[in-house]
Amino acid sequence: MHVQPRVNPLAHSDFYADQRSARPPVEGTVARGQLHEDTYFYTGKVGGNPGDVMPFPVTKEVLARGRERYNIFCAPCHSRLGDGNGFVPSRGFARKPPSFHIVRLQKAPLGYFYDVMTNGFGIMPDYASQIPPKDRWDIIAYVRALQLSQNATMADVPAGQKIPSAPPKFHEPGTGASLPVVMPETNSTSEEAK
Ligand code: HEC
Repeated sequence: MHVQPRVNPLAHSDFYADQRSARPPVEGTVARGQLHEDTYFYTGKVGGNPGDVMPFPVTKEVLARGRERYNIFCAPCHSRLGDGNGFVPSRGFARKPPSFHIVRLQKAPLGYFYDVMTNGFGIMPDYASQIPPKDRWDIIAYVRALQLSQNATMADVPAGQKIPSAPPKFHEPGTGASLPVVMPETNSTSEEAK
């Protein structure tokens, strides 16, 4: 076969004035899919300050995705409850994360959480390369749900629902290696009931 003229990745080149074979993007152009026009979606900031709105509506799917991503990426340190008692800090990680249920973080705007995930905070590393922007927002929506779940008041209980609510019934109790499988609710006003 004919040997084609080509350069190895990042090889030296005599052809270009800067002697680099790897070329920067042509000035004034944007690669497909990389036009980050929606600044708020990609930074969580409005004019340099963290904003406090979701860039898209929060649906059940958004919360479910947020819960899944949160449990994968955040719960090891922050715990599934968000109280900071995750597994990693209990095994010698240098600092225990703060609880999401302290007043300061309850009041922190949504964009603040986006910034912590994007740029890291103190000794917490950033998760920009592991968690794409859409998932970061999904996680934020779920963190807000966690905060509500730990600080709910009587006013948050739907009319007609008993307090305390009946304990869930289990199909499978869960073994420690597996999570318990809860039976669907039948006699409540919950949306979860199917
Ligand atoms: C490796 C453990 C670890 C993981 C994983 C982790 N964090 Fe953290 N996080 C920390 C620690 C430790 C701190 C406190 C850092 C400090 O004070 O130096 C912290 C702090 C925070 C804070 C509080 C900042 C403040 O103002 O006090 C937020 C919000 C936060 N993390 C969100 C998240 C989210 C969301 C995720 C999942 C994407 C996540 N963290 C994953 C360890 C972790």
